[in-house]
Amino acid sequence: MEQKDKKVLCIGLVCLDIISVVDKYPEEDTDSRCVSQRWQRGGNASNSCTVLSLLGSSCAFMGSLCAGPVASFIVDDFSQHAIDISAVAWQVKGQTPSACCVVCPTRGSRTVVLYDTNVPDVTAEDFSKVELRHFKWIHWEGRNVDEQLKMIQQVARHNAALPWQQRITISVEIEKPREPLYELFAYGDVVFVSKDVARHLGFHTPQSALEGLRCRVKVGAVLICAWAEKGADALAPDGLFIHSDAFPPERLIDTLGAGDTFNAAVIHKLSNGARLEEALTFGCRVAGGKCGFHGYGGIADMVTRQE
Ligand code: ADP
Ligand code: FRU
Repeated sequence: MEQKDKKVLCIGLVCLDIISVVDKYPEEDTDSRCVSQRWQRGGNASNSCTVLSLLGSSCAFMGSLCAGPVASFIVDDFSQHAIDISAVAWQVKGQTPSACCVVCPTRGSRTVVLYDTNVPDVTAEDFSKVELRHFKWIHWEGRNVDEQLKMIQQVARHNAALPWQQRITISVEIEKPREPLYELFAYGDVVFVSKDVARHLGFHTPQSALEGLRCRVKVGAVLICAWAEKGADALAPDGLFIHSDAFPPERLIDTLGAGDTFNAAVIHKLSNGARLEEALTFGCRVAGGKCGFHGYGGIADMVTRQE
């Protein structure tokens, strides 16, 4: 199979997002009405698949689901977006994760309360059943790091037997400020670190985060830090720093999943051979545009308009 015909695989969370759009963020212990409410398939890796697919990359999702009405909603939505879920680990214990999300356009905020702790994550054993030759890029949302490191080792062994043009690119996202996740820095060809993690580690700008964190990534890796309205910065394999400004929408509407959109847009470009600068700018353009409408549906239109 030619590299261009292979898919991007994203591994991580899928959950149900129950989204309430409010005009004013509610006070604790009050009972108020919201402007609108919807169900949406969520989870970082799952959202990134949605965006990859809307941008025209064929992609697959791997994560845990538990059979039931919530999983049925999620599976339907994956299928509507032509996302391959043959690698999903169907769990017999626990329940499909779900999140209450409050989106407040007037503040540009999204507040999430997630329950995902009673379902087992995918393991290296689950991953060993994946046909690696179908993929050109595998992205891990940092979660159960011990197992994820074993999965990455499987890919490294697979890659070692191949000429570089046929190798799988490994990307990782370190989004939550949790110490064990930081081990992933050393394993990505492309590493996405969030502003939350950067701030938690004492950095106040994306540039200072890249300077401070570059010692944690492997030589020749790309390190990327997105920072909301400041856009995003990246450290290129040759050690140079690159910046893209943000592309703010006319009006902020929905920032839920902006980071997942950014990651997907960058992966879409890099996995199709674009230069890092172009990928970073495209990431900011698509993620900024996404903040101007609810959900992800507007992405395909937005990209067509820009082309
Ligand atoms: P997360 O959703 O993980 O918190 P960020 O807030 O860092 O992610 O946003 C990711 C990208 O989305 C940014 O690099 C930027 O391009 C875009 N973005 C997010 N919020 C805004 C905003 N308020 N204005 C313009 N662009 C934004
Ligand atoms: C957005 C998101 C939501 C989900 C939450 C989990 O980035 O993936 O879809 O509810 O984050 O942390």
